[in-house]
Amino acid sequence: MTAQGDRNSQPLLEIIDLSFTHVGQKQPTLEGINLHLNPGELVVLAGATGSGKSTLLNCITGISPEHTGGKLNGRVLYRAQEITSQSIRERAKFMGIALQNVETQLFTDRVQEEIVFGLENWNCPAEEIEQITRIALIEFDLLEQQNWNVRQLSAGQKQRLLLACLLTRNPDLLLLDEPFAFLDTAGIGLLLQLLKERVKQGQSLLIIEHRLELLQGLCDRAYRIDAGSVKPCNLSDLPVAKRVLDRDRPTANKLVSTQETTIVLQTENVSWGGYPPFPDLRISIGDIVLLQGDNGCGKTTLLKLLTGLLKPQTGWLQIKGQDATGQSVIQIARTIGFVLQNPNHQLFAESVEAEVNQPGVTLARARELLEQLNLSHCTEKHPHALSQGQKRRLALGAVLARQPQICLLDEIMVGQDAMSLELMLRCLKIFTDRGGTLIFTSHDPGVTKILQPKIVRLHTNSV
Ligand SMILES: Nc1ncnc2c1ncn2[C@@H]1O[C@H](COP(=O)(O)OP(=O)(O)OP(=O)(O)O)[C@@H](O)[C@H]1O
Ligand SMILES: [Mg+2]
Repeated sequence: MTAQGDRNSQPLLEIIDLSFTHVGQKQPTLEGINLHLNPGELVVLAGATGSGKSTLLNCITGISPEHTGGKLNGRVLYRAQEITSQSIRERAKFMGIALQNVETQLFTDRVQEEIVFGLENWNCPAEEIEQITRIALIEFDLLEQQNWNVRQLSAGQKQRLLLACLLTRNPDLLLLDEPFAFLDTAGIGLLLQLLKERVKQGQSLLIIEHRLELLQGLCDRAYRIDAGSVKPCNLSDLPVAKRVLDRDRPTANKLVSTQETTIVLQTENVSWGGYPPFPDLRISIGDIVLLQGDNGCGKTTLLKLLTGLLKPQTGWLQIKGQDATGQSVIQIARTIGFVLQNPNHQLFAESVEAEVNQPGVTLARARELLEQLNLSHCTEKHPHALSQGQKRRLALGAVLARQPQICLLDEIMVGQDAMSLELMLRCLKIFTDRGGTLIFTSHDPGVTKILQPKIVRLHTNSV
């Protein structure tokens, strides 16, 4: 797949003996990193959550240390030129980056404007902007949403919009941090196809991804970060979540079959935003329920309705036999815990331990949960200094610590390496084995196979 030619005989990107230490840390997160990317190559960067993948991407783009602080040693070369010798604007001409937290990269209010804004910034001829934007909206299946406020988009739609903005600019080098995380099956297929075309055209891609099976057959080479250093590896040698997990499949729905079922949550005719009502729910103690549907079908909206964060326009909601339609978020939170799609919106404490060790939670219980979620080694850290995958596990721990009877999870299994996903699912198994009820969303068929949930299918409806 590698493009040939004289101009291409040198690597496009070369990293030499790079090390990086985060602000306030004594030990480097990355050490002795050597890595290169040739023109027209698609290279995968793998590694456990918290291993330093996003940190490395930040070093390549110059976000670290320029914006984050910290100490960087070593060299990052683009076409044999020191990257730090170029201004951010110059770098952005040849480099496009999709960060893991999509929301931090969307700037405008309207979907269409977001694409136009990027093109205008790059002095794209005005007469071409309209057509390029329209093609991008069609290609990324956002035509129907073109006049929406960006905030109205689902996480998957936001991810598609960010990628549309990035790909319309056509930079030589694309750095993508988990670009498939929130996409549904159709979205993943579409993006894989587009990336394949980009590689054929000679663009180079460095992609961070945990679901390695997605990229098998498409990537030229792979690296794995482990204990701060990076080594070339074969994708097929790396652990895939399903393989690890299949050995130990939880028997999660046990309680439903062995006990008399009791309805804990029921809805009827619930709707919001002028859309047709959601399917009615009748959920029993110990149930594991998957809300399944394409990007933008309303999964997060339904979860927000169940927690009182949104109030239904029609219909009613009952929790443990009591009408909860008009109940406050605080009242409902006594029974229902909610782990949000974006963990950054849910972490408020000064340290990892304090986040879980809330009033009413014993220190022993907090530590037990942190141990179960493999966060014991960073109890003193600030929650926002964790990697995205670690933040998701922490947000789950903080919610489980409050011992809710029902737990709602909005795509929190994304971005977990095989072992971390296993830990997360074990924790959930303990929760359901003790009588907890789980309602979750996930696009990962591997997770569905393991949890064996009852499935509620949501359909994409127009207003
Ligand atoms: N601002 C920061 N201050 C201190 N430590 C940090 C900071 N940002 C990240 N780290 C630490 O650096 C390590 C690597 O984090 P990074 O976000 O690069 O991991 P990652 O491999 O991208 O993980 P994930 O797969 O979960 O996204 C983690 O231990 C994290 O806690
Ligand atoms: Mg990361």
